[in-house]
Amino acid sequence: MSHHPDPSASVTPARKRVTPPSLAQLVAAGDKLVMVTAYDYPAAVAAQRAGVDIVLVGDSGAQVQLGYDSTVPVSVDEMLVLASAVRRGTVTALVVVDLPFGSYEVSDEQAVATAIRCVKEAGADAVKLEGGGPVPAARIRAIVGAGIPVMGHVGLTPQTATALGGFSAQGRTVEAARRVRDDALAVQEAGAFSVVLEAIPSDLAAQIHPLLHIPAIGIGAGPAVDGQVLVLHDLLGLTQGRAAKFVKRYASVLDVMTDALAAYAAEVRSGAYPAPEHGYAMPPGILDSI
Ligand code: KIV
Repeated sequence: MSHHPDPSASVTPARKRVTPPSLAQLVAAGDKLVMVTAYDYPAAVAAQRAGVDIVLVGDSGAQVQLGYDSTVPVSVDEMLVLASAVRRGTVTALVVVDLPFGSYEVSDEQAVATAIRCVKEAGADAVKLEGGGPVPAARIRAIVGAGIPVMGHVGLTPQTATALGGFSAQGRTVEAARRVRDDALAVQEAGAFSVVLEAIPSDLAAQIHPLLHIPAIGIGAGPAVDGQVLVLHDLLGLTQGRAAKFVKRYASVLDVMTDALAAYAAEVRSGAYPAPEHGYAMPPGILDSI
């Protein structure tokens, strides 16, 4: 049995435990916030060791971790399994869990009940939900009212991408730009401690940012925000095909994994693995006595 990787073996100077209020302090001190998604224990450990501020158990895990076609089918129970593993791998980073599609839209009561499950069953520090219209704003207010911090998410909202016309940048007409701005303000007004701005023109984000007193975290929103988030599998090179414009690949982990597995398969087939050093020695005399 191998040992777990140790989340406390940080490769960056130790961070204090990150909380929703401390995010605003980091921003006030001039720090850029670093957020990344994670869906399992080793990824959470790596994010923790790298000094990431916020780990998001995103419903993008439906696609990149669980292999669904979209984020829509993932259930609360599935999200809770992913989130619990991430919680166990995290020491100081703030753990935010996405409320999946269908788990908060029906009523404030449904939204609060799902958020409570994320906190009680998975140890989430906060939850995130998509949209800034009257319904999402009401849900944010209700969840915050129940004592659970909420991160908002406006611009491109993948759960409702069909209604938005697909996975394209948002806010590129006067009306659409106003909608993104008003959604961000509505999310703030409803009590969210932070908001994700996804796939909007950099200049629009720069215009919205000064209107917000909560940290704005961008993904495809340019540099004029308080921090950045990327999907782990995109930045590690674990996804395939054409990536969104804002994705930067920092590694080719799928290639590394494939090469390692191909080498293993070849050695098993050739008999090169296991070598003598991978076997257990029998104490002398035992075999003669069985
Ligand atoms: O689910 C997710 O990964 C997200 C990020 C894109 C912000 O919501």
